[in-house]
Order: sequence, then C-alpha cells, then structure tokens
Amino acid sequence: MLSNQRRFWLIILALGAIVLILLSACGEAQQTTLSPQGDNAQKIHDLFVPITWVAFIILVVVEFLLIFAVIRFRARKGQGQPKQVHGNNRLEIAWTIAPALVLVGIGIPTILTVVDLSKSAPPEAVQIKVTGHQWWWQVEYPALGVVTANEIHVPMGQVIGLTLESADVIHSFWAPELAGKMDMVPGRTNYLTFVARKPGIYFAQCAEFCGIGHANMRFRVVVEPDDDAFMRWAENLRRPPAKPDDPQTAQLAQQGAQLFTSKLCLICHTVAGTSAAGTLGPNLTNFGTRLTLGAGLVENTPENVAQWLRDPDTLKPGTIMKRDAPVYNDPTMALSEPDVQALVAYLESLKPDLSQPPAPLPTPAPTATPRPEPTTTPAPGATPSATRVATPTAPARVTPTATPAGPAGPGDPAAGQRVFSAQGCTACHTTGTAQLVGPGLGGISTRGATRVPGKSAEEYIRESIVSPNAFTVPGFPPGVMPTGYGDRMTAQGLNDLIAYLMSLR
Ligand code: CUA
Repeated sequence: MLSNQRRFWLIILALGAIVLILLSACGEAQQTTLSPQGDNAQKIHDLFVPITWVAFIILVVVEFLLIFAVIRFRARKGQGQPKQVHGNNRLEIAWTIAPALVLVGIGIPTILTVVDLSKSAPPEAVQIKVTGHQWWWQVEYPALGVVTANEIHVPMGQVIGLTLESADVIHSFWAPELAGKMDMVPGRTNYLTFVARKPGIYFAQCAEFCGIGHANMRFRVVVEPDDDAFMRWAENLRRPPAKPDDPQTAQLAQQGAQLFTSKLCLICHTVAGTSAAGTLGPNLTNFGTRLTLGAGLVENTPENVAQWLRDPDTLKPGTIMKRDAPVYNDPTMALSEPDVQALVAYLESLKPDLSQPPAPLPTPAPTATPRPEPTTTPAPGATPSATRVATPTAPARVTPTATPAGPAGPGDPAAGQRVFSAQGCTACHTTGTAQLVGPGLGGISTRGATRVPGKSAEEYIRESIVSPNAFTVPGFPPGVMPTGYGDRMTAQGLNDLIAYLMSLR
C-alpha cells in the first residue's frame, strides 16, 4: 500500500508527463489544421471545433460523475455490505437515449460537410493534376502546358480543381491549412476542390504510409496573391532556361548540362526546352526557382543540391534515384566532386530566360495530353546521340495473333504497350528507328532473331529486359540501361511487353 504522500507525488508526476506529451505536439505548427487558410480546410475546422467542444463537455461531465461516485461511495471502515439495488429503468433509458441524441447531433453536420466537400470543381476552376510517386509529386497544369514537381502554385481566391492519381502505391494528398486529405489510389482518379484565401507558402505532405520515403514525401503549396502573379509563374515555366550572367558560372553550368546528358540524368528527368525528357523522376524545369529539394525535404541551396548529388540517401533514405541511377550503380559512371559542382551550377542555373517568349499555350482540348512535347532545341552542349530526334515515331502496329505463347502465359501486345509506357521505356526508346538514349525498337523481332546465336528473338528481348548488361547493342555504351525492370514487372507484364516489342515492325 502506498503512503498518501507517495501517491500524491505519483499523481503529480503522471499529470506532468501528460502536459509534456501535449506540449510536444505544438512547436512550429507549419502543418496544422487549426489555422485554416482555405475554404475546404475552414469547413473541416468548423465541424471539428464544435464536435471537440461537445466531446470535451461530455468528458468533463462523465469524469466529474465518476470521481464523485468513487469518492462519495468508497468503502469505509466498519461499514459492512452496501445496500443492494437492482437497476434503475428510468436512468438506463436516459443514458441510452442521451448518447444516441449526441451521435445524431454530430452525425448530421458531419454528413452535410462530407457532401459539401465532395462537390466537384466548376468548369472555370484552375485544373491541376497531381500524381503521387514514391516519394515525390508530379504536378501538371494541362491547360497551361506546364509540368513541375513538389511545388504547387495556385492563385488566391480562385477555385482549384485537383485531379489526384498515383503512379505506384496509395499516397494521400494533404495540405492541412488549405484542404483536407484525399487518397491517391493506383488505377483510380480522385478529386479535391479548394479555394485559398491568403497568399503564402504552405507545408503539405503525403498522409498515407507508402514506403520508406513516406515521411519525407512532402511538398509546398505556394498561393500567389492574384491571377497575374500565377500566370507569370506558369509563363516562366514555358520559357527556355537562361544563361548565367557570370561567364565562369555559365561555363560551369554548360559543363553540367553536358554531364546531365552523359551521366544519363536525362533518362529520368525532364528539363523543358532541352533534350532531357525522362518521366521517371521529378521534372526539373526551372529547378533553380524551386524552394525545396527532395520533395519538400530541404531548402534548395547549392550545398544541399551537391549533397543530394553525392548521395541522395544521406538526405532522404531509400530514394529510387540512388537505387537506379547509373551514377550510383556503375563505377565507371560515378560522379567526381568537380562533376557534382558542375551539375549543381547547371541545376541552379535553370531559371527562365525572361528575354525569350514563352512557348505557346497548348490548344484547348479536354483530352489534350498534359505534357507538351519537348522542343528539339538541344541542351547547351548536349551530345547529338542523346538529342531527341525530330522524326515522328512510327505508330506501333499491333498484330495480336502473331505472338507465340511465352513460358508463363501468352503475352498481349496491347497490354504490353501500356507496360512500355508505365515502366518509362519511352524515356530512352522510340518504337520506330529513331535513337534516343537507347536504340529504336522498331523491327526488334527481326534483328533480335539473329543477334545472339542459339537465342530466339523473344529470348533475346526477355534477357535484355531482365538483365540489361547481358548483351549490349553495338554502338551503345555498356551499363546504361538501369537494371531491375524484371523485378518490377509481373511475369505476365513481362510477357505482354515482349509481345508488344515483337509486334513493332
Ligand atoms: Cu506517399 Cu506516403
């Protein structure tokens, strides 16, 4: 049995711990639902506050009655058995009906708010498509012809209509001060509508566990004060990058641009106005104007960019970039410190050239591809082999019956075509004869049949996908194609892809 004094101190200690735990939730409050700055967040707040008060009052009443009963009716010395009672019908009916009424009182405004929040955006809304990737955000403005990443610019006071999708696993879009949460589910499109009412930079992040980088999958919403500022920002994304004023920096940046090609950064990243058109990683157009690096993780400073290039996993453990980029996997491709500095100069130089006119807006069409075709202007110093060839790629001719069954089930060329684009093969290969980073794949069924003695075209293609270093096409450097595609596809997906490639004439 504890002495009264020890019991007193134990209670004080427990209360202190509770206060500390509650206080630890405060701090810098960069991501808080408690200071809504958007209509959507306001509606959620307007529901949350009264419900919290009701819950608080119930807590106080129930705890008061509990403590009162415990003290008033506690066992006393020499009292013997208490009086035995057998229930109280009136009381029991009352404490069943009262909570039911409370639940109805909470339920009605909750349902009304849910219905209100799920209203779709009006046609004049600013349409933005956000796609969740492990572990970053692709941001597209189809009507404005611009693509960016990890930073969503919106004009204040206008309805924003978000279209939310995922490229891999389930993510959740959460900008707490502006809008509620909305899941991003593979194979499904979700929508979220909000109006921002105060300019500023808002912290936001993924709110659904999506793998090792989940907690580091952040972004910023930049609310521009008016439509003009917003349109200027979008227009600048359509301008070609400027050359740095300082000749020394300009030269370093140009070296960096060459490395961006020769070190194959362009397999995964796009820089509009250059030959870099990869879509596996964040779009780096105007990267020099971005606030953050690594999906909202650290400030965009030359030091942080350099550290990111040396080893992205030191800033953000588990990146796909570290896992797949040739510079971290092929010792002959590794970046030296001067390479890093040149790439930093190049990336930080990616700012719009205000003396150049912006590329024209895409023609309005409801099904227009959100992503404008990269122009054929080569990057400063881009090597010709990696320059996107202007010849239109030959349309893939699909012959569904011509494909013999593979060992794990017959492949479907139409499904294979989807695999081809989902796996990002288009970043390096055309389906015609034009060469990008890798060879054009038109006619691979004919060429592949004779390339390795004793191997059929299907076997050759399969092995080239599963272990890209097994054979290298003459004229291409070894070790360029990232490994791991075999693991990322199902057996059926691989068969479909092979069937599709076999159908390319
Ligand atoms: Cu994406 Cu968590």
